[in-house]
Amino acid sequence: MCGIVGAVAQRDITPILLEGLKRLEYRGYDSCGVAVHADGALKRARSTERVAQLQEQVAKEHIAGFTGIAHTRWATHGAPATHNAHPHFSGHGKGSARIALVHNGIIENHDELRAELQAAGYAFESQTDTEVIAHLVDHLYNGDLFEAVQQATRRLEGAYAIAVFCRDEPHRVVGARQGSPLVVGLGKSENFLASDALALAGTTDQIIYLEDGDVVDLQLARIWVVDHAGRPVERPVHTVHVHTGAAELGPYRHYMQKEIFEQPRAVADTLQDIESITPELFGDGAYRVFKEIDNVLILACGTSYYAGLTARYWIESLAKVPVNVEIASEYRYRDTVPSPTTLVVTISQSGETADTLAALKHARSLGMEHTLTICNVATSAMVRECKLSYITRAGVEIGVASTKAFTTQLTALFLLTLALAQTKGVLSPAREEEMLKSLRHLPVAIAAVLALEPQIMAWADRFASKENALFLGRGMHYPIALEGALKLKEISYIHAEAYPAGELKHGPLALVTDAMPVVTIAPRDELLEKLKSNMQEVHARGGELYVFADADTKIMNSDGIHVIRMPENYGKLSPILHTIPLQLLAYHTACARGTDVDKPRNLAKSVTVE
Ligand code: G6P
Repeated sequence: MCGIVGAVAQRDITPILLEGLKRLEYRGYDSCGVAVHADGALKRARSTERVAQLQEQVAKEHIAGFTGIAHTRWATHGAPATHNAHPHFSGHGKGSARIALVHNGIIENHDELRAELQAAGYAFESQTDTEVIAHLVDHLYNGDLFEAVQQATRRLEGAYAIAVFCRDEPHRVVGARQGSPLVVGLGKSENFLASDALALAGTTDQIIYLEDGDVVDLQLARIWVVDHAGRPVERPVHTVHVHTGAAELGPYRHYMQKEIFEQPRAVADTLQDIESITPELFGDGAYRVFKEIDNVLILACGTSYYAGLTARYWIESLAKVPVNVEIASEYRYRDTVPSPTTLVVTISQSGETADTLAALKHARSLGMEHTLTICNVATSAMVRECKLSYITRAGVEIGVASTKAFTTQLTALFLLTLALAQTKGVLSPAREEEMLKSLRHLPVAIAAVLALEPQIMAWADRFASKENALFLGRGMHYPIALEGALKLKEISYIHAEAYPAGELKHGPLALVTDAMPVVTIAPRDELLEKLKSNMQEVHARGGELYVFADADTKIMNSDGIHVIRMPENYGKLSPILHTIPLQLLAYHTACARGTDVDKPRNLAKSVTVE
C-alpha cells in the first residue's frame, strides 16, 4: 500500500528515495513519484508504472537534489493515473509551485476543505484528498513550513502520514502523522522520513517512531518533534536492524511459491526451540494476565482473521476459555458489551493494518487493558501498542497473498492455546509434552505435504478454465476452507466461496453442477462420516469433488471424486498441514491463468487505510 520516503541531506538524495520506494514496493501500489528541491524550484517525476520506470525517468530528466520526498500510491480517491500520483504541488499560479506533499491515509473532510480552498482561488489538478492538504499548507504558509503544517493538521479529519517540503526553505522537510505510521531516520548531518523503517534500511538504523498527533521538523543537523498540542516532545531513538534479506527468488518462479516452500523453516523459527510451555513466552506479566482473563476477543483482517477463527476451535477445546473472533473493521463500529476480563488478541502479519490498529484502540477505549498481539514485525505499531506479544518468525513476506505468515500465526496461536490451558490448569504435563512433540515435528510434516506439488499442479490445470469453485471444511478445518477460497480468488481471480460442509444443503447446493469444482478438506476426525455424507450430496448432483484426504479416511478415487492423499493425520495441528495444498492449488491455478501472482490486481500487502 502507500509508502513514503523523505530526506534532507547535502548530497543527491534521489537514489535514497528511489531505493526506499523499492523496499516498499512489495506492499502493492499502482503509481509512484518523487519530487526534489533543485535550483530554487520544485522538480517532480511521476509514473503509473513500476519504480524501475520512475528511476529511468528521473535519470532521463536529470532530476537530482539535496531535499526531497517520494511516494508509492495505492488509489483510494481518484483513479491510478499520473495526475493523481503523489507528490502533489501547490502554489498560486502556473509554474510557481511552492509546496510539495505526499500522503498515506484518507482525509475524511476533504470535500469541505476542497470547497473552501477553491473559494480561496486554488485550482485542483487531481481527484485526490491529498491535493487538498497540499493547498491547505500553501494557504496557511507564512514563511515557516513547520508552523503551516501544524496549523493544517488541526483542520484534518481522518488518517494521515504526510511529508512536505517548500521551495522557499530548501533544507527542511516536515512530517506529521495521525493514524498512519511515520518514522524518522537519523543520519550524520542528514535526516530521513519514511512510513516504515524498512524503507531506510542501508541508510540508517537509528529510528524514531512518531506518535499519533506528532509533527516533526527535519533539518540537516537537527530534528524537532511537537505533539498534538504543539508541545515539544522527546521520542526515544531505537536501533533497528530491519531484516531486508530473502529478496532473492532462487529457483522459484514467484515469491509466493518461494514463501510456500519456506514454511518448514518459518514454522521452525517461530517455535524457537521452545522447551516448555510458559505464559512468559508472550511477555513479562503474561501469567497474571492469563490468570485474570475469562474470555478472549480476537481482532484481525483478511488471512489473519482466518487464523483467528481457527484458534477459536483450539482455545475453546483445549483451554476451555470462550473466544469471540471479529473482523476488525466491523468490531470498531459495532456496539459491543465490553468486559475488563477479556484478553484482546490482535493478529497481523504487518502490524500496520489500519483497521486492526483502530479496533485495538477501540477495545482499549472500552476499558479492555489486557492486550496481546501475534505479529510478524517486531518493530511495528501493533507490537508497540500491545502489552504482550509473540513475534512470528516468518521473515519478510513479499507475495501479497499471505502464506508463511498464516502458518506461523497458527503456530503461535497454538502456543497461546497451550499457555492459556496451562494457566487455567487444564493442561497436564503429559499432554503438554505430547503437544510440544507434535509442534516440533511440524516442519517435517509440512515438508512432506509440499512434496505433493506435482499432483496438485495436475489439478490446477483443470481449475484454470473454471470461473467458480466451492471449498468445504468442517470444524476447525472450516476456516482453512475459507483461507483456501480466499487464496484462489486473490491470485487467480476465480470466484470461490467456502462453506462449512453441513451448510451446503441450505443454499450453495443449488450452484453445484459438473462445471463446479468442489474442493473438500477431509481430515480423519470425529466429523469424517458427516463429511462423507455431504460429499455424497455433491456427487449425486454431478459436482466434481477434489478431496485432500488424510491417509486413513478410506475416501477413494472414483468417477467425479478426485483424491490427493495427505501424508499423515495430524490431530489438533491438522489445519496447518491442510493449508499447504490449498496454497499450492491457488498458486498453480493462477500460474496456469497467467495472472500477476505476487502483485494481484487491486490488492495491497499492507493496508494502512481504513
Ligand atoms: C491485506 C493483505 C492480506 C492480509 C490482510 C491483513 O489484505 O493482502 O494478505 O491478510 O491485509 O494484513 P495483516 O498485515 O494485518 O495480517
